[in-house]
Amino acid sequence: MTKKAFIFDLDGVIVDTAKYHFLAWKKLAATIGVDFTKQQNEQLKGVSRVKSLEKILAWGNKTITEAEFANLMALKNTDYLTYIDKMDEQEILPDVAKTLDFLRDKKQHIALGSASKNARMILEKVNILEKFDIIVDGNDVTKGKPDPEVFLKAAEHLNVPNEHCVVFEDAVAGIQAANNAGMISIGIGEKDILHEADYVFTDFTEIDIDFLNELISR
Ligand code: BG6
Ligand code: MG
Repeated sequence: MTKKAFIFDLDGVIVDTAKYHFLAWKKLAATIGVDFTKQQNEQLKGVSRVKSLEKILAWGNKTITEAEFANLMALKNTDYLTYIDKMDEQEILPDVAKTLDFLRDKKQHIALGSASKNARMILEKVNILEKFDIIVDGNDVTKGKPDPEVFLKAAEHLNVPNEHCVVFEDAVAGIQAANNAGMISIGIGEKDILHEADYVFTDFTEIDIDFLNELISR
């Protein structure tokens, strides 16, 4: 049996950091006189920091200089990191650690595939960095999801064929990236939103051992 690679997105799959991204973007948007709603925040899931700011500026009809853009990016991240700094193991979403441990026990490859440049720091904060064989994050890619680059890099590093990779994702762009890579896509969230995924579960408490065993032995 070939060893599979299980690739986890970070934000919205392992931890609920969308609420911190929201607070930081909202504060930043207010400083430039742009109103930013929870609905708009939904559209930033899986989207890189640069692309997120571009979207916020477009929603607010704002044009700024390159220097201002760089400054706003830095401000947002500094504020975001004040929330990250307070994170600990309690913030790991239900049954995520249990799933990682089960896959480890079954000697499967475990990877992180995230758009975030803060991924390593967050994994360290919640104390699960050592559960991953490899981390591919926003520092390693030039193309954001739905481009498959982040997942393809993880598969390549682990030397696992794409069709033997399973991706857990909460963002539509992330599911599309997994599908574009020819990998098995598992949506974590709402069925209506993540309908392009091969499977969808509300959260990891819904994923049972039989299903994981079936993925491993396929
Ligand atoms: C993704 C999040 O995982 O990472 C996005 O879903 C975020 O909301 C992106 O913008 C980049 O994160 P960071 O930590 O590099 O600003
Ligand atoms: Mg996500």
